[in-house]
Amino acid sequence: KILILDFGSQVTQLIARRVREAHVFCEIHPNDVSDEFIRSFAPKGIILSGSHASTYEDHQLRAPQAVWDLGVPVLGICYGMQTMAVQLGGEVSWSDSREFGYAEVRAHGHTRLLDGIEDFSTPEGHGMLKVWMSHGDKVTRLPEGFKLLASTPSCPIAGMANEDKGYYAVQFHPEVTHTVQGAAMLTRFAREIAGCQGDWIMGNYIEEAVARIREQVGDEEVILGLSGGVDSSVAAALIHRAIGDQLTCVFVDHGLLRLNEGKMVMEMFAGRLQAKVVHVDASAQFLGHLQGVTDPEQKRKIIGREFVEVFKAEAAKLKAAGADVKGAKWLAQGTIYPDVVESGGTKTKKATTIKSHHNVGGLPEQLGLKLLEPLRELFKDEVRELGVALGLPPDMVYRHPFPGPGLGVRILGEVKPEFALLLQRADAIFIEELRATIDPATGKSWYDLTSQAFTVFLPVKSVGVMGDGRTYDYVVALRAVQTSDFMTADWAELPYSLLKRVSGRIINEVRGINRVTYDVSSKPPATIEWE
Ligand code: XMP
Repeated sequence: KILILDFGSQVTQLIARRVREAHVFCEIHPNDVSDEFIRSFAPKGIILSGSHASTYEDHQLRAPQAVWDLGVPVLGICYGMQTMAVQLGGEVSWSDSREFGYAEVRAHGHTRLLDGIEDFSTPEGHGMLKVWMSHGDKVTRLPEGFKLLASTPSCPIAGMANEDKGYYAVQFHPEVTHTVQGAAMLTRFAREIAGCQGDWIMGNYIEEAVARIREQVGDEEVILGLSGGVDSSVAAALIHRAIGDQLTCVFVDHGLLRLNEGKMVMEMFAGRLQAKVVHVDASAQFLGHLQGVTDPEQKRKIIGREFVEVFKAEAAKLKAAGADVKGAKWLAQGTIYPDVVESGGTKTKKATTIKSHHNVGGLPEQLGLKLLEPLRELFKDEVRELGVALGLPPDMVYRHPFPGPGLGVRILGEVKPEFALLLQRADAIFIEELRATIDPATGKSWYDLTSQAFTVFLPVKSVGVMGDGRTYDYVVALRAVQTSDFMTADWAELPYSLLKRVSGRIINEVRGINRVTYDVSSKPPATIEWE
């Protein structure tokens, strides 16, 4: 396995994703773990991450000595390259200004990392790579024993290697998709240079996970909060596979779900899987508390807090119910690896928070329950593979992500029940048309060609005309984005004919909406959600 040491970059998780996509297991840990920890982790290779802008002022961030003593290959990325240079006797010139963006890098010589990997070659025969660069600080002198691996005109040492030791470093970011051959480089490092097998796959994982859950839980009872989202659904299916009726799912409906979502969740879990599911309709309570609240973060906090309240009350009832549940001892959650990293579970999150995502931290202690998180080490795409392997319908498993606060952050400003009803219906039309429209070039539906698509309710009225009459109704915005990591995203170039159909249907079928707009903003600087 590979150890990734995080120096606080926004994109450290992507390094782990790329390595896992090469079917190599890896974990992210903070850059200041102890030498002892690194030795006991026994990695076959180590990757040093980049760091986020402000930490550039802090040149003290270093890799632990054990990284260099262990005798395993090391790959430094961006800041990781700079710290490698400094720690091994090279030189870095620190600078206040930074340059971001696309760059073409020239590869030098033959190295195990880059041999045979190139995007194009120049007329002089130089191998060139299209990469995502981010530099300001740069290595200005190679450490002893190192040779030049890559360069650009503005960054003469854009990569370096000491092949005897298996040390490689690049100033650009191979983990982001803008670096065209980035995945190939990380695969090369993990599989060929570090010598990892590439045998990390989902099929075997079910048996392992089922055995682990049975062993952990024994004959005790487990409760799980089902949200309708992919993660909690897959966790429920996996735990149900392991312990059957020892699992009770609690489905809290906050009234801000997509159209018919509650019904679908019940049909799937109570119906097809025959799992024990308690359906709690708490919409009145949620909407009541949201009355008059317009600030997005405040809305998130309220929804998160109420969710915990409702869930706690249900869990207490279940614990007391005796006959049905012999007193649950475990709380199961669909926490996935990015959540663990984001909520500081591994204390690696040094990046800044843009939006607070609510994950029910602190709940198990309050309930006196032990925590069961069977998806804790998996990334989203792995969770999906697992879901399909467990027999969940691909339609459910490959659904676009839906935020925990649901339509609460898609109704701008104050959340009113009548807005939610309008939005649910408009959104259902948009999604239905995306699923029904096949792109002839790829044979895929536009739903599958987009990473996330939804409708946003704008609490403003505009004038329209329908039949002979003037209308004065609400506006919705359609949003559809393409992204692989949700950290950056482009708006999708949906066919005009599709947009036309969606707009026509929404305005005709949803009385109360008379105008439909399409959001053409990318992230950054916009975010995917409007709140
Ligand atoms: P943004 O809007 O930050 O969204 O570009 C990135 C991804 O995160 C989702 N998102 C949330 N998910 N609770 C969640 O569980 C939240 O409060 C929340 N806010 C945004 C968003 O849907 C997108 O997939």
